[in-house]
Amino acid sequence: MRSLTFIAGLVGAASAAEPFLNEPDTGMETFLLGTNWTEGTQPQLKDIRGIPDFDFAARQKLNNQEYSFYRTAAGGEWSYRNNLEIWSKVKFRPRQLSDVTKVNETLKTTILGYNFSAPIFIAPAARAGYADPAEGELNFVRATASENILYTAALYASKSIQEIASAKSNSTVNGPQVLFQQIYTNNNLSITWDYIRQAEELGAKAIVWTIDAPASSTRHRAARYDTTNSNSATSALTWDIYEQMKNQTSLPIILKGISTVEDALLAQEKGAKAIYISNHGGRQLDHSPSPLEIAYEIHRNAPQLFTEMEILADSGVRYGSDVLKLLALGVKAVGLGRSFMYANCYGQAGVEQAIQIMKKEIAQDAAQVGISDIQNISSKLLNTRALEETVFLLE
Ligand SMILES: Cc1cc2nc3c(=O)[nH]c(=O)nc-3n(C[C@H](O)[C@H](O)[C@H](O)COP(=O)(O)O)c2cc1C
Ligand SMILES: *[C@@H]1O[C@H](CO)[C@@H](O)[C@H](O)[C@H]1NC(C)=O
Ligand SMILES: *[C@@H]1O[C@H](CO)[C@@H](O)[C@H](O)[C@H]1NC(C)=O
Ligand SMILES: *[C@@H]1O[C@H](CO)[C@@H](O)[C@H](O)[C@H]1NC(C)=O
Ligand SMILES: *[C@@H]1O[C@H](CO)[C@@H](O)[C@H](O)[C@H]1NC(C)=O
Ligand SMILES: *[C@@H]1O[C@H](CO)[C@@H](O)[C@H](O)[C@H]1NC(C)=O
Ligand SMILES: *[C@@H]1O[C@H](CO)[C@@H](O)[C@H](O)[C@H]1NC(C)=O
Ligand SMILES: *[C@@H]1O[C@H](CO)[C@@H](O)[C@H](O)[C@H]1NC(C)=O
Repeated sequence: MRSLTFIAGLVGAASAAEPFLNEPDTGMETFLLGTNWTEGTQPQLKDIRGIPDFDFAARQKLNNQEYSFYRTAAGGEWSYRNNLEIWSKVKFRPRQLSDVTKVNETLKTTILGYNFSAPIFIAPAARAGYADPAEGELNFVRATASENILYTAALYASKSIQEIASAKSNSTVNGPQVLFQQIYTNNNLSITWDYIRQAEELGAKAIVWTIDAPASSTRHRAARYDTTNSNSATSALTWDIYEQMKNQTSLPIILKGISTVEDALLAQEKGAKAIYISNHGGRQLDHSPSPLEIAYEIHRNAPQLFTEMEILADSGVRYGSDVLKLLALGVKAVGLGRSFMYANCYGQAGVEQAIQIMKKEIAQDAAQVGISDIQNISSKLLNTRALEETVFLLE
């Protein structure tokens, strides 16, 4: 796909009249035009510098239908844009002259008790086969093994649950590789219970139940190619089904797509050990909140939830600094969806490079902000005044 159009339109009257940038100008195109690169061909992996570069690169390699499926979002894509733009509303409050020399050794974390090298993970996303028809999601399994981060496999992956499980490493630096399995509920729940049983038998350590896709979503960009949703049926989604699901498995069930403090509190009341705040990368409901806004709503109304349960997050994360902002509010680990799908256009090496870029940026930016221990970030690191204007407060 050749289109190099960066300026996707003007932001509405509510925000400043700045053009929306799908990727900021990283200098990639200027650089490439000074080399033997030609438009419509994939740049060399060594010339990728930041996560946004992978989006540019994927547009060169994928055809329009494939790229549109990865890139698409709901409605006017305002949530998609907000996911990318909201970060700039929250400024850092860097503390100088603190000893940050060992901050790069504090990236490691646990998710539901499992050790990982960094507080980032690959979010579940369908159809990795567009980027790499032969290896598909196996690149995610292998790259997360070598980089020792979490991979949450999607139910609608290009590879089967068995193929993904058999690619797992038996010997990461923390022992056998840990994967989580995402599921959608089918209206015929016995099909769902079969998937869950299969995932558990194949060694998945948690079920990630996506609860923010109760129906098909409005996705114009992808509808042109008739490739909108992976999960197109109206799904069975109720708290009662959550109770039934708990009976079907001994694995923890992480609720993916929690968007309000009320639902976060309900999840805790129902016994959830972990929740996953997300607006599905803006792909489900336009004008749904970004993870920074959801995390802030929880921070203001029920901050205890961040310590009483584990809260994962994704949507719109492209830089180490984005991750730090969520961690500062108490989020345990942060996922990226599209960026890893785009990186997979370079196969396993691309996915590994994307992980390395994120790790490096998190450590560097933590040092810049004056954090000596990433496991102990204070919300005082952030000036959240701009979020205060719109935050919802419980009575
Ligand atoms: C191509 C694509 C497919 C996706 N498929 C699923 C899916 O099958 N299940 C799911 O829970 N989320 C799915 N998601 C959402 C991701 O898990 C994640 O919430 C989102 O991509 C995060 O936003 P980001 O792309 O801005 O990082 C998908 C996202 C993309 C981009
Ligand atoms: C472009 O140059 C690089 C070396 O800088 C080389 O590896 C690559 O094969 C060249 N590509 C083309 C299409 O000529
Ligand atoms: C952290 O950085 C120091 C030098 O700045 C380096 O010696 C050390 O190996 C790094 N540690 C990790 C875990 O990357
Ligand atoms: C891990 O071990 C299992 C069982 O011993 C084996 O079937 C599988 O192929 C091994 N995986 C890898 C990636 O070597
Ligand atoms: C996880 O890390 C902790 C602390 O570094 C260690 O005590 C524990 O044995 C590790 N667990 C596994 C499964 O590697
Ligand atoms: C539900 O799926 C099961 C297979 O898991 C099948 O045997 C059953 O007939 C299905 N029920 C309905 C109502 O379609
Ligand atoms: C869960 O299983 C228990 C014991 O088998 C049963 O009593 C209970 O009704 C079940 N709950 C649901 C919601 O299915
Ligand atoms: C965490 O940071 C605070 C200051 O922000 C400090 O007082 C406290 O000792 C730190 N805790 C740990 C365990 O490092």
